[in-house]
Amino acid sequence: MNCILRGVRVIDPLARRDAEGQDVWLSEGRIIAIYKHMGEGNLPVIDLTPPAGRTPVILCPGFIDLHTHLREPGDEGAETLHSGSQAAAAGGFTQVLAMANTVPPIDTPERVKEATFRAVAASVQVLTGCALTKSLQGEELVEMEACAAAGAAAFSDDGRNAFSPRLLSEAIGCAATIGRPVLIHPEDEETLAQVNNVQGPVQRCPLRPVEAETRAVDFALRALAHAGKGHVHLQHVSAAASVEMLRRAKEGGANVTAEATPHHLGMWLPFANEPHPPGLLKVNPPLRTDRDREALVQALRDGVIDAVATDHAPHRVEEKALPFDRAAPGMIGLELALAICITLGGMGGDWIPTLVDRLTIGPFRVLGPSSGVREPRLRIGEAATCVLFDPAAEWTVEPAHLRSASQNTPLLGARLQGRVLMTLVDGALVHHDRQRLPWPAPTGAETVRA
Ligand code: DOR
Repeated sequence: MNCILRGVRVIDPLARRDAEGQDVWLSEGRIIAIYKHMGEGNLPVIDLTPPAGRTPVILCPGFIDLHTHLREPGDEGAETLHSGSQAAAAGGFTQVLAMANTVPPIDTPERVKEATFRAVAASVQVLTGCALTKSLQGEELVEMEACAAAGAAAFSDDGRNAFSPRLLSEAIGCAATIGRPVLIHPEDEETLAQVNNVQGPVQRCPLRPVEAETRAVDFALRALAHAGKGHVHLQHVSAAASVEMLRRAKEGGANVTAEATPHHLGMWLPFANEPHPPGLLKVNPPLRTDRDREALVQALRDGVIDAVATDHAPHRVEEKALPFDRAAPGMIGLELALAICITLGGMGGDWIPTLVDRLTIGPFRVLGPSSGVREPRLRIGEAATCVLFDPAAEWTVEPAHLRSASQNTPLLGARLQGRVLMTLVDGALVHHDRQRLPWPAPTGAETVRA
């Protein structure tokens, strides 16, 4: 691609840049220059200048997802590294942190090494998430130092919360010495077992009250205080009460961060059109009330929640078709995240720059430099890692157009706003919506209007 993208809004949060009406010269995957009124010389031009009153197309650094389930190894029918990373690229994500709850889980230095090696083939950068405890059982810590040396970017037992506060505190202390965050799935398993009246695994239990979350948040904050160092990150916060705890902890100086998912920002129960099968609405933690949703949106806007993270959780059709009580929890999210946040999650209009921040430098800061995450920044002259998206473009969520190997979302058929036009990773074009970004020009014209 050697051309000028004309009339773009460029947002680069780390550089504190937000400028409309820019012309971007792209050549062989590099951004050669960005400025206004660029003469085209003999370069072809894609004119993206919006009609009066319409929001411009945005160029920004690639999004970073702190929470992706790729299902490889163990459940390749639901997702593979290939299909999942294609979905990431289509959603504008250029770096994703893969969760460790695969089969087998990523919980030894050898498995971390294997996963990191496999990830090299993906179309986006896949960072290896390592379990916090062996087999995610909450009983024995993984060899954290060796796993970090083998390539673990962060530690999380996501999907489970079986450790004691004492073990968690030890883990936080250890992670601090190797510069890694501890990511916590805040749903207290004891509470879940009690309310659902079960003794075995609780992952598919349908009753998941707010108290299970606030109790786990409380444990995590206490464990952090007890460790006296380190960083705790709360995954998929879903309740207004947890947001308040988080706000107070941050005000008190605790080194805690948090993420919200697009589905918790944009959906609540009762859902307008109950999807079929109803299991499509099942997710851990569950969708709650509109009041919870509003508290999450507010917290994301004011920075109490640091990042949007998808919790992209692909599942095979038959797992979602089971009766609600037994259906697998989770929704896909990589390809829908941007549009859900803009259309349903209160982050459209004037909140778009904040949304870009929470999809780029927010997650970057959560992971920290020792994790191996790359700085999300538009660099002139270097191979580009960036995304071009149209916040106003409307589209319908259709299974045939999704790149993920799974289609488990309650939004099938929904009309959303916000579409990724192009994603570049290290200069390679990993996603291109040819319809909306007509390149190369079908007529051979020198200037094409998008
Ligand atoms: O709904 C969820 N599904 N929440 C999680 O934390 C795990 C995930 C999965 O692995 O399917």
